[in-house]
Amino acid sequence: MKFDTPATTNPIDQGKVVGQPVDRIDGLLKATGTAPYAYERHDVAPNAAYGWIIGAAIGKGRIKSMDLDAARRAPGVIAIVTAQDAGPLGKGRRNTAKLLGGPEIDHYHQAVAVVVAETFEQARAAASLVRIDYERTDGRFDLAKGRDGAIEPGKEEADTAVGDFAGAFASAEVKVDATYTTPDESHAMMEPHATIAAWNGDQLTVWTSNQMVDWGRTDLAATLKMPKDKVRLVSPFVGGGFGGKLFLRADALMAALAARAARRPVKIALQRSLMPNNTTHRPATIQRVRIGARRDGTITAIAHEAWSGDLPQGEPDSAVHQTRMLYAGAHRMTATRLATLDLPESNAMRAPGEATGHMALEIAMDELAEALGMDPVQLRIRNDTQVVPDFTGGKAKDDPQGQKGDSSKGGEPRAGHPFSKRQFVQCLQLGAEKFGWNKRVAQPGQVRDGRWLVGLGMAGAYRGAPTTKSAARVRLDARGMVIVETDMTDIGTGSYTILGQTAAEMLGVPLRSVFVRLGDSDFPVSSGSGGQFGAASSTAGVYAACVKLREAIAQRMGVDPAAASFVDGQVRAGSHSVALRQLAAQGELVGEDAMEFGELSKKTQQGTFGAHFVEVGVDAFTAEVRVRRMLAVCAAGRILNPKTARSQVIGAMTMGVGAALMEELAVDKRLGFFVNHDLASYEVPVHADIPHQDVIFLDEVDPMATPLKAKGVGELGICGVSAAVANAIHNATGVRVRDYPITLDKIL
Ligand code: MOS
Repeated sequence: MKFDTPATTNPIDQGKVVGQPVDRIDGLLKATGTAPYAYERHDVAPNAAYGWIIGAAIGKGRIKSMDLDAARRAPGVIAIVTAQDAGPLGKGRRNTAKLLGGPEIDHYHQAVAVVVAETFEQARAAASLVRIDYERTDGRFDLAKGRDGAIEPGKEEADTAVGDFAGAFASAEVKVDATYTTPDESHAMMEPHATIAAWNGDQLTVWTSNQMVDWGRTDLAATLKMPKDKVRLVSPFVGGGFGGKLFLRADALMAALAARAARRPVKIALQRSLMPNNTTHRPATIQRVRIGARRDGTITAIAHEAWSGDLPQGEPDSAVHQTRMLYAGAHRMTATRLATLDLPESNAMRAPGEATGHMALEIAMDELAEALGMDPVQLRIRNDTQVVPDFTGGKAKDDPQGQKGDSSKGGEPRAGHPFSKRQFVQCLQLGAEKFGWNKRVAQPGQVRDGRWLVGLGMAGAYRGAPTTKSAARVRLDARGMVIVETDMTDIGTGSYTILGQTAAEMLGVPLRSVFVRLGDSDFPVSSGSGGQFGAASSTAGVYAACVKLREAIAQRMGVDPAAASFVDGQVRAGSHSVALRQLAAQGELVGEDAMEFGELSKKTQQGTFGAHFVEVGVDAFTAEVRVRRMLAVCAAGRILNPKTARSQVIGAMTMGVGAALMEELAVDKRLGFFVNHDLASYEVPVHADIPHQDVIFLDEVDPMATPLKAKGVGELGICGVSAAVANAIHNATGVRVRDYPITLDKIL
């Protein structure tokens, strides 16, 4: 099914099930520990051996020699696999560095061997006996040093320019020109990357933890140089991803290689201490923001430049995207530069690009408000725009007006296009009212509560609302149960529940009559979970399959599908009414289809908008920062389930606090690795850091977005949060910190 006309009235609008704040249907399993993660699938491979991955001990160089003898003789050892005996390997399209390194080493903790033994302890002990002699070569490990040689990455990240920024900025009445830095960050999800791999002849099955089943399957097949249809990937429960599980990682590849060598199933969990350097991370950025305005607050010139680094053939952080969208301004430019670094691979982490970009832009806006003597909320309202003010992707050189734009990723040039829905001002106004923004004292450092200096800060938020093709199969079985099958994943987001709600609404049955099966490459290929596209896309796929199933049901009943309505377990057409169960009893019916998004999504710019408000206390003597309360107001299309959506947003807000105050991978710039590669030294917020969060969703449906009129919201929740914290700290203390995380030494 093609989504090519704006969604009109359809069964979803009833809102009997969709839009209700129902509990997660997998909630009991999760809360009781009976939703098995990949590593816990004892049922599928009771005889599994254990693999332990050895990571490279240098940041760049080569292996001179490996001595495996002692390890091979160690108790319980079954096999050891290295690049030398793994056979020919390809590389998945989405992997930058090789997942199995050697003899060349691309980055620290790149996997170089897996030791397989009867028990976990034996594998670990034997791995410690492997002797590797390295030859270290110099690497590029410092973004600040690599900044000058950084290149324009091209494609979506190409530079944009509208009007005459330099001239307009030079003549602006009020200016801000500041540089901000954000550090490397780690996803630090609870469940590590983990896989059980089993071969049956030439057929491979991996039970793993992955956000994108079809990407993982495709890239595993490509890496092993085998046909995709010989690989099955199963990932029904995922204990957090945040982008770290978008791609095939070493656990899955090494488990497959190990199982082949050991001739029996092998299970591997990446040890926590390997994760930050072996897998991916959010790259550090350096960002320069310049804004020029008239005395009345009207922005006349705005520029955002961002530098980040990655391994050769890698990609930059897209930190400038929101600056093309949020505020008006006739003269503008954005530029993205990529430095080649030999640190571990950079890649997506929750709201990649916008999360870091807002950290700079939204402090700069606060600085502009201060320079103008204007309220920060009013400044943002003053500069609202109902059309895209900049090119949304890079400006195509032969197509400056963006006529040839390809909308597949929402990253095409289309300056001047209207937004499908933009309730940014409403978010700002409602947030200010509910938070008590009028109590803010503009002059910093004026409010005391005992030893605490108290401050309020806010920020605007934008995140795209992309959609991608997503398929599903929905069956009505002979008992009258509705069974939804799609390879969509639930990474803690609530996918099971919203997909169940979609099917229940479409077929007029209660949610308890729907059974949802996810995360298996045997099921139709979905959008997967990433980029805030999962909820909107995968529910649209289930919608399409339900339309097909409704047709099959109507046909069996002998009525026109267009005239049939599905209500209270009945199918009705005119005066004719039959129980769904009765029709089902004649034998199972199946509907399968994919939703594809095409031309329609090019006609308008789809995005989600929000406003974040934060109150902090800063200890007047130690500069310890405590967040006291937070509010997010989100405009993100139809909210499919306010309970799961709220959980997404408060989780994102929590991550935003982490980014503001504590999260930082410390780079050893001589040896080239992240030093604090465990959860003891990579700090994330705990419950005591997050005392009070509120989330308000604006009433919104967006008929241009999907048939359900829905958008994603999970990643919107982090955009702007860290800047709101930084701005609150400034309001509390008068200290403007532009280098994250804002630790107390930077305030004192
Ligand atoms: Mo998201 S960072 O695309 O999982």
